[in-house]
Amino acid sequence: MSQTMKKKTNAGKKSVAAPDYRVKDLNLARLGRDEIRLAEQEMPGLMALRERYAGKKPLKGAKIAGSLHMTVQTAVLIETLADLGADVRWCSCNIFSTQDSAAAAVVVGRTESGGTVENPKGTPVFAWKGETLEEYWWCTEQTIQWPDGSGPNMILDDGGDLTLLVHKGVEFEKAGKVPNFNAKNDPEEWGVILDTIRNSIAENPKRFTEMAKAIKGVSEETTTGVHRLYEMQKAGKLLFPCINVNDSATKSKFDNLYGCRHSLVDGLNRATDVMLGGKVAVVCGYGDVGKGSAQSLRGQGCRVVITEIDPICALQACMEGYEVNTLDNMLEIADIFITATGNKDIITTDHMRRMKDKAIVANIGHFDNEIDMAGLAKDKNVRRHNIKPQYDEFVFGATPFAGKKRSTHSVLVLAEGRLMNLGCATGHPSFVMSASFTNQVMAQLDLYFNATGKPTLSGQKYEPGQVYILPKKLDEEVARLHLDKIGAKLTRLSKSQADYLGISQDGPYKADHYRY
Ligand SMILES: NC(=O)c1ccc[n+]([C@@H]2O[C@H](COP(=O)([O-])OP(=O)(O)OC[C@H]3O[C@@H](n4cnc5c(N)ncnc54)[C@H](O)[C@@H]3O)[C@@H](O)[C@H]2O)c1
Repeated sequence: MSQTMKKKTNAGKKSVAAPDYRVKDLNLARLGRDEIRLAEQEMPGLMALRERYAGKKPLKGAKIAGSLHMTVQTAVLIETLADLGADVRWCSCNIFSTQDSAAAAVVVGRTESGGTVENPKGTPVFAWKGETLEEYWWCTEQTIQWPDGSGPNMILDDGGDLTLLVHKGVEFEKAGKVPNFNAKNDPEEWGVILDTIRNSIAENPKRFTEMAKAIKGVSEETTTGVHRLYEMQKAGKLLFPCINVNDSATKSKFDNLYGCRHSLVDGLNRATDVMLGGKVAVVCGYGDVGKGSAQSLRGQGCRVVITEIDPICALQACMEGYEVNTLDNMLEIADIFITATGNKDIITTDHMRRMKDKAIVANIGHFDNEIDMAGLAKDKNVRRHNIKPQYDEFVFGATPFAGKKRSTHSVLVLAEGRLMNLGCATGHPSFVMSASFTNQVMAQLDLYFNATGKPTLSGQKYEPGQVYILPKKLDEEVARLHLDKIGAKLTRLSKSQADYLGISQDGPYKADHYRY
């Protein structure tokens, strides 16, 4: 546990001695700055927004707390929000995904800020690669705590942890108590969240309630986080207006698909360096991430088998030439297993017990419950052998299983069952993240304009308790901003063609129900 972490951390009581950031090593900032400079070249959407709003500071007064993988690409997002006038604080949304060089460079600040390692002038970041769960939630809490004791008025989330913390904080403050942790049935992480809120309430019983009142909106990055938001909306528990960034076509149909096509094999190669060609690989889930993952593996010459629960996705997979089968049927045959469902309990310990010796098991979905890591840890017949950071061998003893005696075997698990493309590699490349993050900045602008009485970019009004998607016009604009960079020349509709189709020459070009 780090030195700063031992300090009591509550609103208004920040120690003067504690630096207002926590990263691995500020000396990595020079490398990070070079990486950010090169990424900017590949992120035309974000750079166009900087240019459009140069000198105008449309986010002045916005205090944005962000929880999203602290990578080089996220650094460009953070510095864009700051360029637009926002006061930003950041943590990662995953214990393994931080690129320490990027985190350091963001803290030191852009070259023109004059920040140095000795006197950083950038944005406070609380993130490093390889956090414990306690450290992760400490970082998350720091992100919503400004040095003057106030909280954020905007949240930018990936997976919904910041949103969850604020909502649960408000709920438990209202109830006047925090529920007890049930070590037998609750996930370990829930205990850490309960402790975080319990400590906060002991110091300030109204902290989250006051904070929530000031929050003007949330923009959410990923499928799993968006799923949580719609559940809260349905239950009438959602406190803020929210924008579902994931379901912009230029996010889920690009980042989830083409991003994973790039970064899935990157994670596999960096962790295992095993020859992928010729291997049998199972991808569980054929949604956007599953489609990209399957393409990624097929590109390397794997024979890919899909598991699905949804007949439409299963049929899509068949039409692309993949075999669709059940996991159970593939356990003794496949060499590589990837989970991409956003669901839980996909690969159990008993599944892994039946796999071939040295089968590779990895997850590319958001949380760590697709593969039963807790079950592996508890099983006395399984021994963990760490090969290197984020790469473990789990050795199964020779106990009989399902009536059959078998010899000892092991499975190789990436990133402790957490998203392997960010744990074992560096996530998606800049160009595709530019599209996702241009949507994020537009979402933040829209929610902030809405709250401050300015006309929104989308023309829509945002109400608390509701989840919105950015309109197609903005989605198309995000795509348009990326065409020049790759030399695409768009055809322009003639007036009579536009009239024939019943649309404007300037778009939107498709109806809202169109699926890309
Ligand atoms: N690693 C990354 O870079 C990255 C990027 C984007 C999204 N994500 C995450 O990846 C996950 C998947 O996202 P998505 O956009 O593809 O979601 P999606 O809803 O499009 O796809 C998930 C698919 O899994 C299927 N599924 C559910 N339960 C299943 C089961 N038991 N067996 C087999 N299939 C099952 C569903 O039918 C669906 O088709 C989410 O957690 C999301 O947040 C990760």
